[in-house]
Amino acid sequence: ELYRELSGIVAKEQQLAQQFGIRRVVIVSGDVEKDSTVKQQLGKEAAQIMLEIAQGKDKIAVTGGSSVASLKEYLVPNTVLSEVEFLAARGGMGDEMTFQANTIVAKFAKKTGATYRTLFLPEHLSAQAYEAMKHEPIIKEMITLYEQVNIVVHGIGAAHEMAQRRNSSQLEQQALDEKGAVSEAFGYYFNEQGDIVHHIRTIGIQLEQVNKARHVVAIAAGHNKATAIQAYFKNAAAQSILITDEQTANAILSK
Ligand code: G3H
Repeated sequence: ELYRELSGIVAKEQQLAQQFGIRRVVIVSGDVEKDSTVKQQLGKEAAQIMLEIAQGKDKIAVTGGSSVASLKEYLVPNTVLSEVEFLAARGGMGDEMTFQANTIVAKFAKKTGATYRTLFLPEHLSAQAYEAMKHEPIIKEMITLYEQVNIVVHGIGAAHEMAQRRNSSQLEQQALDEKGAVSEAFGYYFNEQGDIVHHIRTIGIQLEQVNKARHVVAIAAGHNKATAIQAYFKNAAAQSILITDEQTANAILSK
């Protein structure tokens, strides 16, 4: 803690929280791109925060991505966490298997003794398929559960990278560029002003539901994500907590 104080990290955390207008920022020292242990530190901090904020029988929606996945090593059973329910935040299966929300919630539940709910759906549904799916009992149940979410744990991606990772077509990527998409979180793409410019058509938690949650925990770091993080937080929920690294924080603060 003394190191954090002396190195100015604590001051930067406060500065960034104020700039974004959010509850809290936690900065891990180092650079996630140069040192792979930094990602583990992000996960460790996020797991610690989860322990602090979870209550009763909370429903915790969890997105995919390697940043969110990094929590799993640090989750342990405790009286509260073993009572919660982890929900895959989206049905999409666009990410690599280990980094899909469905895989991650199963792991989190195993580590904590909690229950979990998955949703296996294609990443990009046609308009007809989407309408039809919404009336399926299993999907309807999941949509009802999203309405009750107390905590959201999510990653933030640079729009370009995410579109590529999710195998979006050339046309879709071009459309995202034209709309000025720079940031992505839980299936929504945002422009530099933090406005939604695109939403992936799949079943998942809606932004209004994220905004209603008691806590929203974002885990995101990397120099290439600085613009994405900054854009996302232009309009993000005030009850957000961001966990990032020193390099990224410096990049944002020096803009
Ligand atoms: O939505 C954003 C991505 O899930 C972030 O993925 O943590 O692997 O960069 P990542």
